[in-house]
Amino acid sequence: MSKITVIGSFVMDNVAKMVKFPQAGETILGESLELFPGGKGINQCVSVARLGGDVEMVGMLGKDANGEVFRKIMKEDGIKADNVFSCDKPTAVAQVQINAEGQNRICVIPSANFVFGFDELDKVDSVIKETELVILQLELRLDVTKEIIRRAHGYGVKVLLNPAPAVKLEKEILGMVDYITPNETELSILTDMPTDTDEEVIAAAKELLSYGTKTVVATIGSRGALIATQDNVEIISGYKVKAVDTVAAGDSFNGALAVALTEGKTLKEAVQFANAMGALTVTEKGAIPSLHTRVQVEEFIGRISDQKIKES
Ligand code: RIB
Repeated sequence: MSKITVIGSFVMDNVAKMVKFPQAGETILGESLELFPGGKGINQCVSVARLGGDVEMVGMLGKDANGEVFRKIMKEDGIKADNVFSCDKPTAVAQVQINAEGQNRICVIPSANFVFGFDELDKVDSVIKETELVILQLELRLDVTKEIIRRAHGYGVKVLLNPAPAVKLEKEILGMVDYITPNETELSILTDMPTDTDEEVIAAAKELLSYGTKTVVATIGSRGALIATQDNVEIISGYKVKAVDTVAAGDSFNGALAVALTEGKTLKEAVQFANAMGALTVTEKGAIPSLHTRVQVEEFIGRISDQKIKES
């Protein structure tokens, strides 16, 4: 059994580049349209694999050309895929818009991802039982995802939930989550609290802790990430890079966090590592093509700390 199991989505991204996003009712001329493999689940899984983690992917693909693209990626990245099922619905697709600042707007059509149901969940029950950490997002059916959280928690398996795309979740479910990684918007939706300032982010993170969530790692854009546990609240600074395309930065952050935590790094060290992985991801276009390897991330961290020593 693999140390880390990702149960999540596959999405083929149709990525349109433009200078600025169109307004409602406005037509604009864009710069390019490209296809990139993505989806939060597989993005996080490939990140784990490229960072040297022992990982299995669980999910649902269509029996189509896009499905084959993902099967090839998993093979090339050494990802266990025995429990990636196939169905008659097409592999999920998304419309992704990227503006000149690298910001993104995404609309996912779930298709095959929503065919993953309780029958498939029963088939992977022993996988969940025997793994160390389950990584989840909210791109599969919500009722199925909640049941995965209940089962993993019941088996004493750690749960890392990336609550994206965000929906309001019951306190009971949030209380079974070991690590939750919302961005500011997602944190606001989960808690019904404002998250416009660091103070507000801290208050909302503490609200999640009060439900029983063990650790909150809130990503706060280029400022880095805020970690909150019952014992400590701290902001871990991010890395400044030029953003080309921010798609999958949150996913690679989650993958790196999972790898570092399962290697026994402290929470702070794990978040520093995840910040570096996330920063590198925004420097290249596409989701899976922008996910870096362990060697590249360590070289980046080394280069930045050398620069800091020279500047001091
Ligand atoms: O987090 C980025 C991902 O979200 C994209 O690859 C897109 O497919 C959506 O799932």
